[in-house]
Amino acid sequence: MDRPTILLAMSGQADTYVDALQRAGFDPITLGPDTVTAVPTADLAVVDCDLPSELVTTVMGALRSGRGAPTLLLVGEGSDVPEVAGSAGDDVALALKPMPPDGLVYRLQAMLIRTGRELPDGWSSWAADSAAHAAGQIVGEGHVVSVFAPKGGVGKTTIAVNMAVALRQQTRAEVLLLDADVGVGNVTSVLEVPYRMGLSDLADSPADEWTDAVFEQVVTVHAESGLKVLAWGTDPAESERVSVDLLLAALRWARNHHSYVVVDNHPGYDDRTMAMLAVANEIFLVVTPEVGALRNSAQFLELARDLGLASSIRVIVNRANHGIRVQDIATALGLPIAATIVSNGPKAIVASNEGKPVVLKFPREDISNDLHKVARLISQPDAGAEPVPEPVARRWWSRFGTRTSQA
Ligand SMILES: Nc1ncnc2c1ncn2[C@@H]1O[C@H](COP(=O)(O)OP(=O)(O)OP(=O)(O)O)[C@@H](O)[C@H]1O
Ligand SMILES: [Mg+2]
Repeated sequence: MDRPTILLAMSGQADTYVDALQRAGFDPITLGPDTVTAVPTADLAVVDCDLPSELVTTVMGALRSGRGAPTLLLVGEGSDVPEVAGSAGDDVALALKPMPPDGLVYRLQAMLIRTGRELPDGWSSWAADSAAHAAGQIVGEGHVVSVFAPKGGVGKTTIAVNMAVALRQQTRAEVLLLDADVGVGNVTSVLEVPYRMGLSDLADSPADEWTDAVFEQVVTVHAESGLKVLAWGTDPAESERVSVDLLLAALRWARNHHSYVVVDNHPGYDDRTMAMLAVANEIFLVVTPEVGALRNSAQFLELARDLGLASSIRVIVNRANHGIRVQDIATALGLPIAATIVSNGPKAIVASNEGKPVVLKFPREDISNDLHKVARLISQPDAGAEPVPEPVARRWWSRFGTRTSQA
């Protein structure tokens, strides 16, 4: 999409937002209190609910009566939220103030995706640079790997936990595991660590209090491996309070202070997950050899191509010895398979019940060997991947006739 226009109706200074939006490929138009008689049309709008309520009503009325630009309402503690917010579905979303500029960009991108619109050209270079432009922060060298699948239960957490421990064993460097499966996932239930706090405990503090010292307090350490773990929290009722901005602040801190950051993600396209994918150096897409998982992964790859994320994706096949052949998965997805992991249900269950990573509990099993190979994709990036199968030009699910079941 060419530069989408964003109407910005802000109560305070809009310069930093204008700058971030321009860098992300948007065309912002600011609306001051004096231009209320003419509300320009725009593809998206941001309306600050701390503006005088008549002005908010006029702007919202003009936006709703036109083409219905999706609108993000910025809400402070004492703001009046216009009534339309409750009835406009995906077209009106709320965001809490203060809103950092890159958080605003992510929210708008998420609205474009959710309402079926295209993202602007050039947003991916913004995503790559965004952390570098974060106010007053120097971005460290930490390598961020986001473990993702659009489908639940395919092994994301198992792979994230074991890969993080294996990375630590292989490199002895500082490795941090960030549990970003907010509301659902619970890394700390499969990896026994002394849990003290989670990111949800920081949700009430303003962004300028999310300092290094505070994140250091939240982090916990897995004694046996030395892996650091940053949890989102434990209470699903608290999960909505863990914002995109808080996750991004945590990731920035993590990247500044650790050589490797492994992120365990939620299976879906919510804006927290999209942010965790956009800022990753690499996305490990976990698939299992089943038609459903592959269909979902193929859809994700299409979206990732549109978002400019495709080049950072590596496909990891979990439970690779059952179901559709690895070669056929590569052909179906049009990508090489970076690593495979065998299924070993009994060992995976024993290890997880004891709160121990498989790579430590059963280091000699094939599953552990495979998980170490996944970690070596990061620790030894030049070691070479598996051979690339030739993509075959036909409907991809027609390839699924051949199945294997070796174990
Ligand atoms: N290679 C494997 N062999 C045997 N069992 C496995 C393997 N990988 C994962 N499992 C088991 O499958 C179950 C789901 O794994 P896991 O929780 O890692 O998936 P997930 O993708 O993180 O799920 P969710 O989407 O719910 O977060 C767990 O019981 C785990 O122990
Ligand atoms: Mg999980």
